[in-house]
Amino acid sequence: MPDVRRATPKDEAGIRAVHQAAFPAVERESVAALAVDLLHVLSKPETFSFVAVHEEDIVGHVAFSPVKREGTAEWVGAILAPLAVHPDFQHRGLGTRLIETGVEAVTSLGGRVVFVYGDSQYYGRFGFLPEVAEPYVPPCPLQYPFGWQAKPLVAADDFPTPGRLDCVPPLSDPKLW
Ligand SMILES: CC(C)(COP(=O)(O)OP(=O)(O)OC[C@H]1O[C@@H](n2cnc3c(N)ncnc32)[C@H](O)[C@@H]1OP(=O)(O)O)[C@@H](O)C(=O)NCCC(=O)NCCS
Repeated sequence: MPDVRRATPKDEAGIRAVHQAAFPAVERESVAALAVDLLHVLSKPETFSFVAVHEEDIVGHVAFSPVKREGTAEWVGAILAPLAVHPDFQHRGLGTRLIETGVEAVTSLGGRVVFVYGDSQYYGRFGFLPEVAEPYVPPCPLQYPFGWQAKPLVAADDFPTPGRLDCVPPLSDPKLW
């Protein structure tokens, strides 16, 4: 079973390769570039990634970066993006482990919400819900609004104030949304 550990900048080539292998041709280069760019982001709170490693090869990757209320330093939580598991290693629970490990890390940093923009069939099983994300306006217009979901990490009373969100520069590209 592959190990899951924190990624470092030395993992750049493996992270790029796993996204190139997992995503369809139309988006693989932009997602791989995003994954690599996020590895080098210096943010507060931190941007971090986890990798799944099998015999020294990276076979899975997920990144979490902070989101803030637009124009403020108020930390709302993190966004999970991107996520990929190499096709040869899919359906073994690795995607689940990467998501759960990252969500735990965001929780222990004090994050209140984790956002994701993706397939609700997949993310719904982890407690990501469109209705939780709905009061928070993503940084760019969405091509698929139903893909905008969030998982609460705190009780509803402690939710961040609704409003527009800012994210780290590599994710602020309208083509990714
Ligand atoms: C999505 C992805 C990360 C899942 O990785 P994984 O290691 O296979 O995930 P897990 O083993 O934890 O869970 C697999 C389950 O998720 C389901 N699943 C995977 N992709 C799904 C999707 N797009 N929609 C609904 N269910 C999906 C599978 O049916 C599978 O269930 P099963 O094993 O009972 O058949 C992987 O398929 C992948 O890299 N896909 C290409 C890139 C991608 O789509 N990334 C997410 C972008 S939003």
